[in-house]
Amino acid sequence: MAYELTIEPLGVTIDVEEGQNILDAALRNGIYLPHACCHGLCATCKIQVVDGDIEHGDASPFALMDFERDEGKALACCATLCSDATLEAEIDEEPDAETIPVRDLLGSVVALEQLTPTVKGVFIRLDEPLRFQAGQYVNLHIPGAGCTRAFSIASHGGDPTLIELNVRIVPGGVGTTYVHEKLAVGERVTISGPYGRFFVRKSARAPMLFMAGGSGLSSPRAMIHELLREDCTLPITLVYGQRSRQELYYHDEFLELARRHPNFTYVPALSDASGDAGWDGYLGFVHEAAREHFDNDFRGHKAYLCGPPPMIEACLAALMQGQLYERDIYTEKFISAADAQQVRSPLFKRV
Ligand SMILES: Cc1cc2nc3c(=O)[nH]c(=O)nc-3n(C[C@H](O)[C@H](O)[C@H](O)COP(=O)(O)OP(=O)(O)OC[C@H]3O[C@@H](n4cnc5c(N)ncnc54)[C@H](O)[C@@H]3O)c2cc1C
Ligand code: FES
Repeated sequence: MAYELTIEPLGVTIDVEEGQNILDAALRNGIYLPHACCHGLCATCKIQVVDGDIEHGDASPFALMDFERDEGKALACCATLCSDATLEAEIDEEPDAETIPVRDLLGSVVALEQLTPTVKGVFIRLDEPLRFQAGQYVNLHIPGAGCTRAFSIASHGGDPTLIELNVRIVPGGVGTTYVHEKLAVGERVTISGPYGRFFVRKSARAPMLFMAGGSGLSSPRAMIHELLREDCTLPITLVYGQRSRQELYYHDEFLELARRHPNFTYVPALSDASGDAGWDGYLGFVHEAAREHFDNDFRGHKAYLCGPPPMIEACLAALMQGQLYERDIYTEKFISAADAQQVRSPLFKRV
């Protein structure tokens, strides 16, 4: 059985299946609603229910507080319909956004590569091509666990049937432990996507600063490769931080890109280089390396931040101290269940 959902201010009506969440129904109909974690944790997908009955599902009480539920707010990524309904959402105009409906796709794992002691490269040959914007992510269905986990698309070769994911193991984590310990070459997997609005705002024609930490390299890697493939001549800087040299995957690839493209600058940083006597790059965290490299002046840039929430928060503070503000900063936070209890400042609407 399906219910009718009207989405304002678009004035569009779509069908939502019983048990299907509102975000999923919208994205599969090619209608963009703001979202980030897709797991009821970050509150990015908050909507106002104007009319009709809904169930809140697994919305975290920190992301959707009791008084907000009383006011008719809901999280689109968790809420399901119990009747026909109408909702209001804040949907920003994005000139660089492509409308790509979310789909389920089947594929086979064709290669697994241990990129570092904690990060595994997963290469999936899809049965049909996946169209996505460089920077977006997919949800990988975890066999046997009945859940999905988000992973950014690291592919950069332009082959739309070959998807690369870089997965960092979270100790005790259901999804990442499966990928590291059980996933095998030849296994059939399902992904859904593409998700997210983390992509290059090319129409801005501004110098670009990418800041990546931990396993947050995937999106910047795909975005930078695409820009250079398209012969972008604007200055592009990647500040990329890892704990140690052995965790700094794709280091040689970026050194080579910087050698070949004069407009691309690569700034690697290690927070602990004690075991790497030969390291002559930056010592410290991503935000510290960026601050030093840009002499604390980020004006005129568009910045793209990707990685775990503490890294993003530190980078945001550094950028704002260096006079780059919210309208020029885009983030992809790798939010996990552990971050669910963080309540965001209402001062930040988008980042
Ligand atoms: C948009 C998006 C894109 C992402 N892209 C990538 C990517 O490209 N590569 C990648 O490796 N990851 C990425 N992630 C994160 C990835 O989805 C998480 O690693 C994953 O959700 C963890 O899943 P899990 O099932 O292993 O852990 P869960 O089973 O969800 O968690 C296991 C346990 O670990 C705890 N835990 C989880 N994270 C932490 C933490 N940071 N600190 C302390 N405890 C923690 C939890 O509280 C829980 O108890 C992305 C996340 C998002 C939202
Ligand atoms: S996308 Fe719904 S709470 Fe994060």
